[in-house]
Amino acid sequence: TCSWLKSMPTLYKYQDVWNTQEFVEGTILAQQNFKADPSDVFLCSLPKSGTTWLKALVFAIITRETFDVSTSPLLTTLPHHCLPNCLELGVERSNENYTNSRFLPIPTHIPYNSLPQSIIASNCKIVYIYRNMKDVLVSYYNFFREKDKIPVEDAPFEVAFDEFCHGISWCGPYWDHVLGYWRASLDRPEVILLLKYEDMKKDPTSNVKRLADFIGYPFTIKEEEEGVIENIIKLCSFENLKSLEVNKSGKLFGDHPDSTENRLFFRKAKDGDWENYFTHQMVEKIDKLIDDKLGATGLVLK
Ligand code: A3P
Repeated sequence: TCSWLKSMPTLYKYQDVWNTQEFVEGTILAQQNFKADPSDVFLCSLPKSGTTWLKALVFAIITRETFDVSTSPLLTTLPHHCLPNCLELGVERSNENYTNSRFLPIPTHIPYNSLPQSIIASNCKIVYIYRNMKDVLVSYYNFFREKDKIPVEDAPFEVAFDEFCHGISWCGPYWDHVLGYWRASLDRPEVILLLKYEDMKKDPTSNVKRLADFIGYPFTIKEEEEGVIENIIKLCSFENLKSLEVNKSGKLFGDHPDSTENRLFFRKAKDGDWENYFTHQMVEKIDKLIDDKLGATGLVLK
């Protein structure tokens, strides 16, 4: 159990990953029923790693000929609603979408080893975004604490820290999720692109170009000269999305009792916010853990 959370009192381990009953059932259904098309693209992530940003960027890249920065649905719609539902929540291919010709990419938090076999067999392209473990933990802690309206004093960070370090979190263990996609990207670099949240913040232009090339929507020289890439980066920036009315007041699933306020997807977007939460002992413990779990693999998180 996640002892400090109301919305996730019980987690179940399915194929080595902790998740809620709803997501485990959704994963099993996807594994049994989902038929991938070779042209499908998947946007994969561990929650709180920059999923919302990736969704916004991909949507803006794909629809840039239909919408400009003043007409984009991203100005009035949460990025999650611009793309199909998450794979584990049941993708509906008949969903209204914003492109006439091609189906939009499908987001998912399902770990690599649990993806439906047809995605791998069809050689579908996969984009995976990952972020350093400390900031993911702080983001995760604040997101669920605020979602459940738990005051800080009733949700000690130390408890969340300990559980996270034991691998117990939504889609955890963190290191297995990241390593699954990372290893796959080494074996199948032509179909799996890894993007690092921190790198995207540092150099959005090259990373957005890489992303557009990879998903099959490269920018022309003319577009580059006209500043299309910069416009997309601005449209999808944290500051812009956070300031939009829809992201200040809307809810992810409308009036559903478990619905999440859109604003919770836009907190600080700061690299290194973990420094405001971790004690020296925590830093030592988590650095050792990262070293134990990832050190020998060659995957560098910072
Ligand atoms: P913080 O909690 O550190 O602020 P996800 O979308 O996977 O749930 O991740 C949420 C994290 O991404 C939050 O981090 C959120 O603030 C940040 N985020 C949301 N939109 C962003 C954007 N457009 N650019 C950069 N970071 C963004």
